[in-house]
Parts: sequence; structure tokens; C-alpha cells
Amino acid sequence: MGREGSVHITIAHKGSNARDDRSVPPVYAAKLADVYDAIHSGKDYARESGYLLDVVRRHHPAARTLLETACGTGRFLEALQVEMEVTGLDLSPGMLARAAERMPGAALHVGDMAEFSLGKTFDVVCCLFRSIAYLKTSDRLADAIGTMARHLAPGGIVVIEPFFTPENFWVGRLTCNHHRDESMDITWMYASERPSSRLGRYPIHFLVGSDAGVDHFVEDHELGLFTPHDFQAAFDRAGLSLVYDPVGPTGIGLYIGKRSSRE
Ligand SMILES: C[S@@+](CC[C@H](N)C(=O)[O-])C[C@H]1O[C@@H](n2cnc3c(N)ncnc32)[C@H](O)[C@@H]1O
Repeated sequence: MGREGSVHITIAHKGSNARDDRSVPPVYAAKLADVYDAIHSGKDYARESGYLLDVVRRHHPAARTLLETACGTGRFLEALQVEMEVTGLDLSPGMLARAAERMPGAALHVGDMAEFSLGKTFDVVCCLFRSIAYLKTSDRLADAIGTMARHLAPGGIVVIEPFFTPENFWVGRLTCNHHRDESMDITWMYASERPSSRLGRYPIHFLVGSDAGVDHFVEDHELGLFTPHDFQAAFDRAGLSLVYDPVGPTGIGLYIGKRSSRE
């Protein structure tokens, strides 16, 4: 079902953080990319994009260019392109293929947000929908914030929506969802796990049914549980001054790191 080959997407060069021991997780493969937009049809991308644009206007009123890392199928990029010149980067070719279908001709790059090099800078570099947690370790978090900071123009901002902390991640709780439209039914469920104190895990089972039959597949999503101290240390190391918004677009908070305009 995957259609990765049908659109033009460039491969981002690895930046200076590239290390051989850093394998990237095989999540958001073609089967999940195919149903991603359907299972997130209830997410209010327009409202959340509006929140982000308000943050940008407050912290960098002159901003014109924006890079979304972990952009997925491009739902945020589609909304943000009305006011900004947008670029997307994601590890999953399948997700980016959907983004390219949504926004033909858009600048989209396959790459790891911890170690990419696009050879240009942006006024805003963001990572939304808690995708930052896929970095899993505080070392990779620091590498990612450093890589994003190197892609900032003077006065630019890095905006990160965090995931749960070690204190508020739920374990042993079943989540079960269903989506139905005219062409298919999708059920997905998982019981959250805690493999270690700083790692959460969602082993997600998907059932995708249509008149052609029923497919079952599983994706194991391992997610880093970062503390406010992890973020502060990563932004400090990247040389960005940090502001914390305790609400953010979905109520879980937002980190905003600013590069000086005088460098
Ligand atoms: C929850 S989805 C969010 C996608 C999009 N931002 C949205 O809000 O719909 C998480 C995305 O993170 C991407 N991802 C995971 N690890 C990544 C990494 N190391 N570098 C870049 N993208 C990554 C996945 O491929 C997936 O598209």
C-alpha cells in the first residue's frame, strides 16, 4: 500500500551529530502512514497552528520562514503555509509521501531531527504533537535542539511541544479508539508500558478493515520521558535563551528557545 516512490522528496544530509550507534526506530511505516490522517481526523490542526502563529508573532514578529521537524503528513505545514514559507523534515518516507500529495512542490526532506543538515537557516524551527519524545534519550534530545539551533537565522526561535514527563506518564491503562468512514473501519489499541524510568512504550495494535479484507499490524512506539531540566540543559547547550509556556497548543506546555539577533 505504501506509495513512497511517487513523489519528489530529498534526503537531508546527516549533520555533525551523526553517530553509528544511533539506530532510528522503525515506526510510522507505510501501513501507518496510509491511515494516519484518518485516525487523527479529530485533531484540530487549524486551531493549534493558530496558537503557534500567535507564539511566533509574540517572540519573532518578523519571522517569514519555518521548518517543521517530524512534520508527518504535513497537516501543520498546510495550515502554516498561509502565513509562512514552510519546509518539512521527517524520518518516515511514507509520511512525507502523504505530505507531498497534500502540498505538491513543497520543500520536504527525509531526515532524523537529531542529525540533519539542510544547508540553510530558518526564522522558526518547530517540533509539534509531542513528536520530540521519539528521540528517546536526553542525549538525542540535546543533539536535536543543537541541530535545530544551527538551522536558526539570527533572532530565530526553536519551538518544541513536549510529551509526558516521568512524573505524569500513565502506565497500565488501556487506550482503545475507533474510526469509521465510507471506505474503511480502523480500530487501534494499546496498554501503555514503562520499560524504564525514563522511557514509555505504546505497543499499538491496528486493525484496518475494508470490503477488501482486514489487515492487522503492530507498531512499537518507544517515547522518551523528558524532564524540564532535560529541556533547560539542551537549550542551554545550544546557546538559546528559554521561555516556557505552561499551556501550549494542547495543554501540555511549549518550550520556546531564542537565538540572539546580535550573533
Ligand atoms: C505523532 S507524528 C506527528 C506528525 C505531525 N507533526 C503531525 O502533527 O501530524 C510523529 C512523527 O515523528 C516522526 N519522527 C519520529 N522520529 C523522528 C526523528 N528522529 N526524526 C524525524 N522525524 C521523526 C514520525 O515519522 C512521525 O511522522
